[in-house]
Amino acid sequence: METVKLHDKTFKTSIPFAEIETSVIQLAQQINADYQGRKPLFLAVLNGSFMFAADLMKHICVDCEISFIKVASYHGVSSAGTVSELIGLTENIQNRDVIILEDIVDSGLTLEKVVGLINARKPSSVKVAALLLKPEAYKKSIPVDYVAFKIPNDFIVGYGLDYDGLGRNLKNIYKIEN
Ligand code: IMP
Ligand code: MG
Repeated sequence: METVKLHDKTFKTSIPFAEIETSVIQLAQQINADYQGRKPLFLAVLNGSFMFAADLMKHICVDCEISFIKVASYHGVSSAGTVSELIGLTENIQNRDVIILEDIVDSGLTLEKVVGLINARKPSSVKVAALLLKPEAYKKSIPVDYVAFKIPNDFIVGYGLDYDGLGRNLKNIYKIEN
């Protein structure tokens, strides 16, 4: 089995690209069926979702648009806690059918923030498509409508996902070796 070393850690193949491709195509087919006659706007959350988004979009055959967003967090000046802001969303999403593309949903904190910020702009619907979901870690109630893989609580890299900046370019998904 192929292993890769990133920084101080070793990772071994967990999901080879051929399996990723098959599941991503199936996911695209579900979306095609559900969005017939509509014109969804895909919003891919950078950085992690770039590869998933690119491969998924090749198999979407309804009229659609795609844009890319980032979520920035900073500490507000007066009140305690972290404030989040959407970066890069220039489209008016009012009355649009939005599909959020995420690389991985772990605790769900990021997704909750993204969905909250999107909903504030009054789209007509919001659905979530994630390449990976860690069901044991997921603590939120927002439905993850389309999931390519449910995985255990292991740390993984590749196919867009990184370990401290490295590994996003890898074609397969690898999991950390203990
Ligand atoms: P959450 O907010 O806890 O759901 O975490 C989501 C974010 O954490 C993802 O968008 C990833 O950037 C990162 N993340 C969570 N699990 C992993 C992993 O196994 N490998 C790499 N990044 C991860
Ligand atoms: Mg991410």
